[in-house]
Amino acid sequence: MDKSKKIIVNYKELVIIDLNESDVNLIRSSQKILENSYSPYSGFKVGCSVLLSSGKVLCANNQENVAYPSGMCAERVALFYASSKYPNSKILKIAVSARSDVFKINDMISPCGSCRQVIAEYERKQGSDIEIILHVNDDKILVFEKASDLLPLVFDSPPLRKY
Ligand code: THU
Repeated sequence: MDKSKKIIVNYKELVIIDLNESDVNLIRSSQKILENSYSPYSGFKVGCSVLLSSGKVLCANNQENVAYPSGMCAERVALFYASSKYPNSKILKIAVSARSDVFKINDMISPCGSCRQVIAEYERKQGSDIEIILHVNDDKILVFEKASDLLPLVFDSPPLRKY
């Protein structure tokens, strides 16, 4: 008997004119903030903007360090900031943009595994999905409805939630 299973990843592939004004603004915010990225080691600038249920948009970028693992991705800088400043606001969606002055980035970037796990944590905490909009150029934008679309079989263990 064949015991293999398949996981289907659901997402939309769009162009900028398919998006509403609010989503375009979110992308433009992440594009703007990536310019402040501190990425002297990789030359890979990433910006992330977070839309809260209040309508507020928070933005952050990747921060690198000479001790490489001490750096942090744009998504986690933005999400940790959002959760620390507005712990009771729901996060509706995030947009992630990337650019480099030193090499060409192909038309697909997506959050690393640790960032996916962090997005999933906030979804569980707030009890609702966080949409993820990925952007490198206006001709190809990927939209995922929720973190589990990017991270199937996410780690979770309710007994670890003690306090
Ligand atoms: N990076 C992000 O900020 N977000 C991602 O989704 C992928 C990678 C950063 C980490 C590091 O500063 C640089 O990009 C190269 O990996």
